[in-house]
Amino acid sequence: MKTIASFTVDHDLIVPGIYISRIDGDVITYDLRTRYPNAGDYMDHLTMHSVEHMFATLIRNSPVGDQVIYFGPMGCQTGFYLLMRDTVPPRDVYRLVRDTLLAVVRHTGEMFGAERKNCGNYRNLNLFSAKEECRRFYDLLPETPTDMAYPATPDAAAPVPPAPPAHFGVLAAMQEELEGLLPRMTEVQERTVAGIVCRTGTLNGKKVSIACAGVGKVNAALCTTVLISILGCNRIINTGVAGALSPDLKPLDLVVADRLVQYDMDTSAVGDPVGYLSGAGLNRIYLESDSDLRAALMSRAAAEGVPCRAGMIATADRFVASSEQKSEIRAAFPDAAVCEMEGAAVAQVCTLFHVPCLILRAVSDCADGSSSMDYPTFKVRAAATSASLTASLIAGAR
Ligand code: ADE
Repeated sequence: MKTIASFTVDHDLIVPGIYISRIDGDVITYDLRTRYPNAGDYMDHLTMHSVEHMFATLIRNSPVGDQVIYFGPMGCQTGFYLLMRDTVPPRDVYRLVRDTLLAVVRHTGEMFGAERKNCGNYRNLNLFSAKEECRRFYDLLPETPTDMAYPATPDAAAPVPPAPPAHFGVLAAMQEELEGLLPRMTEVQERTVAGIVCRTGTLNGKKVSIACAGVGKVNAALCTTVLISILGCNRIINTGVAGALSPDLKPLDLVVADRLVQYDMDTSAVGDPVGYLSGAGLNRIYLESDSDLRAALMSRAAAEGVPCRAGMIATADRFVASSEQKSEIRAAFPDAAVCEMEGAAVAQVCTLFHVPCLILRAVSDCADGSSSMDYPTFKVRAAATSASLTASLIAGAR
């Protein structure tokens, strides 16, 4: 089997830039590498698709548009291929790429080809995402054309891949739990995936996607999956309210999860301990939230004089509203500080995707006979308390 040319290039040496990938007769294939290969920072499908529509249209409308053969994304999600006739010298192609990127960034009209009859997946297009990617690539391309040869040796001067910029995914079970965040967002783009409305924009200077998951573990797991694998979030925060299990917690107190357990996961009849998660890469009872995010949250809380403690969060598809239920949870998990219905599901998905997560709760009730009174009384204030500390954590993030 012949190895195709692009597999022979050492991808460990490639940095973002424009390269000549191959020459076939009078056709030159350019590698427009927008991201570092294998650095954990990949374009999502929406971004690739949107850049394809905008860039392809604008370059084909340039003075040398009839010399363009093809433009499209690489399957590895780190760049695009542009095929041009060799009548346009490479240095001019370099300038043309920069001009076209700028034209995408400055475009004021509609997304091109965004009607159902124009495209096989017309809902999956977003001008903002195209502009963001093109701006990012434009900013790192030197004005003067480079030689466009792939690096053959590690270049001491080549920049180290920067950590991918933070993209926070924030989810909550109920809309009330997000009220403290959504109005503060700017440049908001909305899209619905699997029935979940996701709003992507800027919050306190950081990129965030915010989604209301619905109540319970399945909803939480689905929403977390959408945020990570469709929207490209690389940090997840689950904010909301909880019932107090620990006797020294009262309404509005804040708890950040250090450990989490799904206490309704019960295969004890076949010999496992209660809460044991098995299969799909996990064989354990407890999940954890990310220690760096937790430390950052604790220091934000301390700086703002907001009491917040670390503790175990017990999750199940059950609203706890009786002393008996509460005692049962405490008997099985004596360290559990609060109970709620999503946190450990979010943590499970994040663990499997290797995405850091933080689960934050404010107490809305004491998970006993008084819950039916306390929950409606404190829900909104507790939700706002948790959301406010979440916003502060995002503001302080690097
Ligand atoms: N969320 C808020 N209060 C709760 C409770 N008592 N049980 C489960 N989830 C909750």
